[in-house]
Amino acid sequence: MAIETVVIKASEDLSDRELTALLEPAADVIRRGGLVAFPTETVYGLGADGTSAEAAAKIYAAKGRPSDNPLIIHVAGPEDAEKYAVTSGTYYTLAKAFMPGPLTVILPVKDTVPRTTTGGLDTVAVRCPLNRIANRLIALSGTAIAAPSANISGTPSPTNARHVISDMTGRVDVIIDGGDCDFGLESTIVKIEEEGIVTLLRPGKITVEDIESLGMYVTVAGAVSEELKSNEIALSPGMKYKHYAPKACLVLVDGSVNALCDLIKSDSSKKVGVIAYSEDIPTVNSRLPGIRVFDFGSCGDTAIQAHRLFSILRMTDSEALDLIYAPLPGTEGVGLALYNRMIRAAAHKIIKL
Ligand code: TXA
Ligand code: MG
Repeated sequence: MAIETVVIKASEDLSDRELTALLEPAADVIRRGGLVAFPTETVYGLGADGTSAEAAAKIYAAKGRPSDNPLIIHVAGPEDAEKYAVTSGTYYTLAKAFMPGPLTVILPVKDTVPRTTTGGLDTVAVRCPLNRIANRLIALSGTAIAAPSANISGTPSPTNARHVISDMTGRVDVIIDGGDCDFGLESTIVKIEEEGIVTLLRPGKITVEDIESLGMYVTVAGAVSEELKSNEIALSPGMKYKHYAPKACLVLVDGSVNALCDLIKSDSSKKVGVIAYSEDIPTVNSRLPGIRVFDFGSCGDTAIQAHRLFSILRMTDSEALDLIYAPLPGTEGVGLALYNRMIRAAAHKIIKL
């Protein structure tokens, strides 16, 4: 049955007192086992009390998410992880450098967190968000907030309240509208293997290079940049699921914009859209007049591309396109996060021109 959804407008510019007054009713919903969608610096989260199996179960139902795909628990300060997970020196080295911020760390779970939250695993993902609305909501609720991205499973993660309202109205108690998310791609996820040794499970704003600069050894999980083989077990259950797929067929292009224009001109049977770097838009417009073009931002500006990617993928869905071409990103720095999301959105379809 549909739930009545209340939308609250909030801003990170409010004073502590104003923010507390505004968020207290939402924190109360969390304490009572309800669902609250809230902004973070990465994407919007779909939150519930992570220490309650019943509340966590509501998240899976609202998202249509398989129950073996674990949730991230969100804490207000890095040391709050102690209540829920077994920490270590390496955890605190990472926390000191990157928390609060867009980093999630996988740690052994304590029995304060039900297996419903961890998807049955004996580890738990811990993240401490920087966004003031998220951080204050968690502190006020007095618990760890379990929150996946606030989208229906399989659609792009929501990076503004309109996306959340479109996916979650009738499925959650409260949506907190805090405007656009700063970064726009989900947090970096690492698993601590041994002291000073981590595996990167999902790339994000905190890059491999950032973590290596702490003197740590980083292995990148194969599924970050390659297709999972049929007999391979995903280190992070989320890696095995289809993700972010737009309705049209998305193809990534490893080649020049001129070569792409030649290819599109050679087959006029399909309704085609192009996601292009700003610098390439004049070429596309002059060679393919009338074609639908989405501005991905300047070629070297991975921050703006990260900010726009999920919005663009959602936009393409409202345009009845058959085929969309997008540039294949590089894998340096934040590029790896873009590459990871885009090869999955494209179901690994890459053409070399
Ligand atoms: O930026 C973010 O991380 C956002 C915001 C809301 O914080 N959350 C988010 O959650 O992206 P979600 O559920 O959409 O993605 C979490 C990923 C999933 O792929 C899941 O499989 C993985 O984290 N994960 C969670 N717990 C894990 C664990 N114990 N071991 C390995 N992977 C885990
Ligand atoms: Mg997600």
